Amino acid sequence: MQYGHFDESRREYVIDRVDLPTSWTNYLGTERMCAVVNHTAGGYLFCNSAEYHRITRFRANAVPMDRPGHYIYLRDDETDEYWSVSWQPVGKPLDEAVYRCRHGFSYTAYECEYNGIKAVQTLFIPRGEDVEIWDLAIENQSGRPRKLSVFSYAELSFHHIDMDNRNFQMSLYAAGSSYENGIIEQDLFYEEDGYQYFAASFEPDSFDAVREAFIGDYRTETNPIGVERGVLSGSTELGGNQCCGLHKQLSLAVADTANCAFFLGEGRRREGVRIREKYRHVAAREAALAELRSFWDERCSALVIDTPNPAMNTMINQWTLYQSEINVMFSRFASFIEVGGRTGLGYRDTAQDAMTVLHSDPERCRVRLMQLLRGLVSEGYGLHLFSPEWFEADGKKQSFKSPTVVPTPDKSSMIHGLADACSDDALWLVSSITDYIRETGDLNFADLTVTYADGGSDTVYDHMKTILDFSARMVGAHGICQGLRADWNDCLNLGGGESAMVSFLHVFALGNFVALARALGREDDAAHYEAMRTAAIAACETQLWDGKWYLRGFTAKGRPIGTDADPEGKVHMESNTWAVLSGAASAERGKQAMDSVDEWLFTPYGLMLNAPAYSKPDDDVGFVTRVYKGLKENGSIFSHPNPWAWAAECVLGRGVRAMKFYDALCPYNQNDLIEVRKAEPYSYCQFISGQDHTKFGEAHHPFMTGSGGWSYVAATRYMLGIRPEFDRLEIDPCIPQSWDGFTVTRRWRGAAYHIQVENPHHISKGVAALYVNGVKTASLAPLPAGSTAQVRVVMG
Ligand code: GLC
Repeated sequence: MQYGHFDESRREYVIDRVDLPTSWTNYLGTERMCAVVNHTAGGYLFCNSAEYHRITRFRANAVPMDRPGHYIYLRDDETDEYWSVSWQPVGKPLDEAVYRCRHGFSYTAYECEYNGIKAVQTLFIPRGEDVEIWDLAIENQSGRPRKLSVFSYAELSFHHIDMDNRNFQMSLYAAGSSYENGIIEQDLFYEEDGYQYFAASFEPDSFDAVREAFIGDYRTETNPIGVERGVLSGSTELGGNQCCGLHKQLSLAVADTANCAFFLGEGRRREGVRIREKYRHVAAREAALAELRSFWDERCSALVIDTPNPAMNTMINQWTLYQSEINVMFSRFASFIEVGGRTGLGYRDTAQDAMTVLHSDPERCRVRLMQLLRGLVSEGYGLHLFSPEWFEADGKKQSFKSPTVVPTPDKSSMIHGLADACSDDALWLVSSITDYIRETGDLNFADLTVTYADGGSDTVYDHMKTILDFSARMVGAHGICQGLRADWNDCLNLGGGESAMVSFLHVFALGNFVALARALGREDDAAHYEAMRTAAIAACETQLWDGKWYLRGFTAKGRPIGTDADPEGKVHMESNTWAVLSGAASAERGKQAMDSVDEWLFTPYGLMLNAPAYSKPDDDVGFVTRVYKGLKENGSIFSHPNPWAWAAECVLGRGVRAMKFYDALCPYNQNDLIEVRKAEPYSYCQFISGQDHTKFGEAHHPFMTGSGGWSYVAATRYMLGIRPEFDRLEIDPCIPQSWDGFTVTRRWRGAAYHIQVENPHHISKGVAALYVNGVKTASLAPLPAGSTAQVRVVMG
C-alpha cells in the first residue's frame, strides 16, 4: 500500500493519503531554530535546545497522535463551518476534502481543497532568523464570492521540558501574555530573555493569548470554541497557559487569491515588529524560501550520482544526504520519539555523524569534531553525553535559572568516571578526524591546541594518541578491548568483559592514524602505532575466530558470546562486519564470516543485528537479553550496522551481495509496502522489527539514527568507491557485475570532478585504467581549486 510518492524534481516527498498509520516527520530550520513537524502540522518548535528552550508545547506518545502543532483554521463565515489547512486537527472526512502534505528540504507544505477553497500552509524557518514562518495562500475556486475567517493556533511552552511537564505549582505562575500592536508576546517571567512573539502580516480582527479561551472547556484543537464562534475573545493573562490565536476576516471575489503569514519567533514584541516588516510581503517570503532552496542546492551538488539503481540515486542525491545533514545539525534528541528530555551531544553518535557530510558541510563537521575533542577526558575516554557549552571558553551556562524547579548542575558532576565510559565512543573520533583531513587537505588541523574536559590541553594529534592508548591499555584477559558500560551496542553491557567489535574498531582507528602520521611525515609514530595495530590484529585473530564467524566478545566471567554452540545470540553483525572493515580479517575468514551474516541475519527488510534473538535474561551479556525478541538491539533489523555490511562486502569485492543488502534496507523500495513498514519511505529508521516479532517489517524512529550517515558513507565511499585520501581521490567501486557503469560529480577541495566509470567486462571490482582530462594517469592527485576535471575510469 502506497501513501505518497517521491517528487525528485522538486526534491519533495508528496503524501497524497494523509491518514498515515504514524507520523511522518520533517525538520525545519538549518541553524539555531528547529521545528519537528509531521504530515498534519503536529510537532514542536525549539531554539538551540529541545530540552531547555522549547517554544511550542507538545504532548508526546499520546492520543490523539502527536499534538498540538502549528495550525491554521479556515471558517466559512456564511455557514459557520470550519476546517484546518492541515488535515488534523479538525480532521474532515477524506472523501469530502482533498488533503496533501509535501515534505521538502527544511520546509513542509500542507495543501487542502475543501468547500471550493484551496489553501496551502507552508512552514519554514528562514536562513539567518529565529522565526518560524507560516505562509498561507488561499484561492477561491468556488465560483461565487466568499466570506472567510482565518485563525492561527499554537500552544506555547514554558521552555524547559521539566517546567513544561511537572511542578506546575511553579510554572503556571511564571509565564504570561500580553497583546499590543497586533502582536502576542509571551513572557517567561523567571528567565532573563524568556520572550516569544507571535505576529501576523495583517492587522488582526480578534485574538486570544490564553489557551483555555481559544479552545474552550471540554474541547480540543479539533473543535475550538473561538473558531466555532468566529471571533476570538481578546484574552491575555499573567500566569496560566499561553497560545497563538490571531484572527482575520477575508472577502474573496470569484477566483480571488489571498496571501498572509504568521510569525512565531524568539524575542520581544519589537523583534516581532521587525520580522513582520521584513516578511510582510509574499515576495519576501518567496525569496526566503528560495534562499533555503539554494542552501540545499549547494549541499546536494557536492556529490551527484547517476547509477542504474533509481532508489540509490534518489536517496543519495537527496534524502540520505538530508537525513545525514539533519543529524549533524540537530544531533539526536528532537523527534517524535526523543522529545527533548535529554539533549547535548551523544559522543559516539556525533563522532560518527561528523564524518558523513564532510564534503557538503565541512565547517559544521569541524565544529562537531572540536566539540568532541573538548569533551574528551585526559584519560582517553569521551563523555558519553555532554553539552558542548560546558567546555567552551566563552560558553554561556544555559541551564534554567528557576530557584526551585531545576537544580543547576555542578561542573564536576558533568565529568563521569570510567564506570560510565563506553568503550567505543572516542575511537570513532579518530577515524572521523582523519576523514576530515582527507576531505579538506588541512593537515594543520592535527596540530591545533585543544583542551581536555577535565583540564589540561595538547594537540588534536595528541588527543588521538590518548584515545588509541586508552583502548590499548583497557584490555581484558584475552587481550581484547574491555566492553565497559557498553560498546556501540547500548544494550551489550560487558563491564570488564571484552568486546570484539571495539578491538576491531581500535584496529580501524589505528590504521587511519598511522596513515595520518605518515602523511605528516611522523615516521616514529607511524611505526609505533603500526606495531600496536599488528598486536591488536594478532589478539583478534587468535581469540575471536569461532570457525564460521567471529565471536561478539567475552563476558566478565570469560564466557564467549556468539559461538556456534549458543542456541541464542549465535551470530552478531557488529563483530563480523568490523572484522572485515578494519582490515583485520584475512580474505578467507572475512568471506566466511560475511557468508554467515548473510545466512543467519538476512531478511527481505535488511540484516538483523543478531540471531536467534535472546529469550532469557542474562545480565552477564547485558540489557539486550531483556528486550523483547525482534525489537531494538535484540534481533531487530537494526539499521545503523547494515551499511557496515555493505561496506564489508565491498572490501571483499562482492558487489552483488553489497547491493542485495543495500536494496533490502532501502526505505525507497518500501514505498508501496507501508501497510508493513508504517514509517516514512524517505528516511532510514533506527530499527525494523525482526523476524522473531509479530510486527516483522515495521520500521521505528526515523531521521535520528546513524543509519542515515552510514548509508551515505557506505554507498558513496565503498559501493561507488569515491574516497578522498590524503594525497589523492581514490576511485575504487564495488558494484554488481550487471552494471555497465555510472557517473558521479564530486566536489573535492574546491575542484569539480566529473567521473565516468565504465564496466566493459562486467566485473564487480578492480580498476584497469584512469584518465584525467583524456590523459592516462596512475592516481588522481588534487587539482587546483576552481578547476574542473573529466575523469574516466575503466574497470578491469
Ligand atoms: C541508539 C543510540 C546509539 C547506539 C545504538 C545501538 O541508536 O543512539 O548510540 O549505538 O542505539 O545501541
